[in-house]
Amino acid sequence: MNASDTARLSVSLIDVSEGHDEEFQKLVTSWEALLIAKGYGRSELVRDEGHPQRFYAVRHWTDAAAAERCHADPDVQALTTQIHRIARVTHVVNGARRPDPLRLLLDERRAPSVEPDRRTGFDRRVRDVGHSEGDRRHVTDRRIGPRRLRGRPGEIDIVAAARRAREYADAAFSRFKVGAALETGDGTVFTGCNIENATYGLTICAERVAMFKALSEGHHVFTRIAIVADTEAPTPPCGACRQILWEFGGNLDVCLANLSGETGRHQLKTLLPLPFDARLL
Ligand code: THU
Repeated sequence: MNASDTARLSVSLIDVSEGHDEEFQKLVTSWEALLIAKGYGRSELVRDEGHPQRFYAVRHWTDAAAAERCHADPDVQALTTQIHRIARVTHVVNGARRPDPLRLLLDERRAPSVEPDRRTGFDRRVRDVGHSEGDRRHVTDRRIGPRRLRGRPGEIDIVAAARRAREYADAAFSRFKVGAALETGDGTVFTGCNIENATYGLTICAERVAMFKALSEGHHVFTRIAIVADTEAPTPPCGACRQILWEFGGNLDVCLANLSGETGRHQLKTLLPLPFDARLL
């Protein structure tokens, strides 16, 4: 039996009390580190951009026994108690339970067949293959899991989302923190921040992080992007990001903002005139 046969997943919905965001993030970071250090598995936190105080904690247990050991661990319990003081935690998926053979059979039948995406460059933007309207879940298929938002395109405050994402920037070398929030054709918002590196050259900008996150989850249609930096003057995307945004996102609306308000609005085609793209290959 290989590791993927024994691995288990559980998901909790967490509503954090107003004003306890920072404390919550710190506790969760310790919780996640503990999980890895003790070999129980790993955990990731996804913010629901439709409800900024709401998160989904997705736990990937090494196996069902590791989940049990983790719940019985006094160090974990101490942190969990602290989290419960500032947040309401609802367990929505408990994959650490003994598997139900009938359920597994149904899940297998439901699994979509995977086809390679052979479209190139501009064709990709014709259809959003992420979660189109036609991909709505059937009422009896109530899988609950991490979803970045509910809502229609234009509904989410992407500047606010970019400001929050900026807080995660790892800008140890430039101290210049940037946040981005990219909206897809179905209204999902993917955020990103700049992540720097000791070799400098491997640094990646906030915009590309957001775009690559979205692409890696099957989204190919995009409407707008917000970019936030703590500067008086607008911080427009760098040349490399303009190219990537253009190739994968087309003529996006680009909203530039700082911590207190908007600093400019542009269409990407005006920021990247005479672009080189797949049409020229
Ligand atoms: N940066 C971005 O993340 N996005 C931009 O639009 C401009 C620049 C980052 C890259 C680097 O980490 C820091 O800002 C300084 O250039």
